[in-house]
Amino acid sequence: MNIDTTNLKHIAFIMDGNGRWAKLRNKPRYFGHKKGVSNVLKIMRECYKLNIKNVSFFCFSTENWNRPQKEIDHLFDYLEDFFNKNIKEMMEKDIKLVVSGNILKLRKSSQDVVNKCLDLTKNNKTMIFNVCLNYGGRDDIIFGIKNLFKEIKENDFDLKDLNEETFKRYLYTKDMPDVDLLIRTSGEERISNFMLYQLAYAELIFTKTYWPDFDVNQLHECIDIFNSRTRRFGKI
Ligand code: IPE
Ligand code: IPE
Ligand code: MG
Repeated sequence: MNIDTTNLKHIAFIMDGNGRWAKLRNKPRYFGHKKGVSNVLKIMRECYKLNIKNVSFFCFSTENWNRPQKEIDHLFDYLEDFFNKNIKEMMEKDIKLVVSGNILKLRKSSQDVVNKCLDLTKNNKTMIFNVCLNYGGRDDIIFGIKNLFKEIKENDFDLKDLNEETFKRYLYTKDMPDVDLLIRTSGEERISNFMLYQLAYAELIFTKTYWPDFDVNQLHECIDIFNSRTRRFGKI
């Protein structure tokens, strides 16, 4: 199959359904997170192969702190493991890690491994791999406004220069273009506070598959659907 990704500069995933995937198998929810985190690697590799330059994964939201602490701990165990194991591959593939969200709220061991990977990969150019941790779309906008205020105070930023494009520079996703395609797995059809600013004109695809089962073939199908859509951006 020949997959055309010419118009796909940024693909984003709301990787939902880990818990239900596990429940279906009579396993604890964290079993689903383990499988879910390993699936990030598979899908990230395929996006890389397809030459998509910006890939985002919603891994932990500002609202997910309301889950049982044990579930949160397991999830961050898997995420830390993920970064430790895959940093080498990210370097080999020239992939730059970006983490969207305030990582200062994460436990120290997670901050450490994330900071290490951010630092090691900071000059990589081939693809941006954006992992959203403690991320909320509203929090992102507030973060942007705070950055902007700092710039106004410190660097004489002229408010005349503020517009929809220049504001993007202050968001967590500052080096990335708008999202072209958002895929949410698990059957839920909502945004759940993800990338409110960046999704303004994204194509949305909701699949019934639980995230741990979302595979390369389904990714290809989603891209086909994306390519078959007419994006008008308000024009006729
Ligand atoms: C998505 O799977 C992963 C995270 C939110 C961390 P869920 O854990 O939300 O799985 P469901 O939706 O309960 O099945
Ligand atoms: C969204 O999934 C957040 C992530 C995938 C990290 P949730 O499972 O937390 O969303 P809701 O609660 O169903 O809206
Ligand atoms: Mg969920």
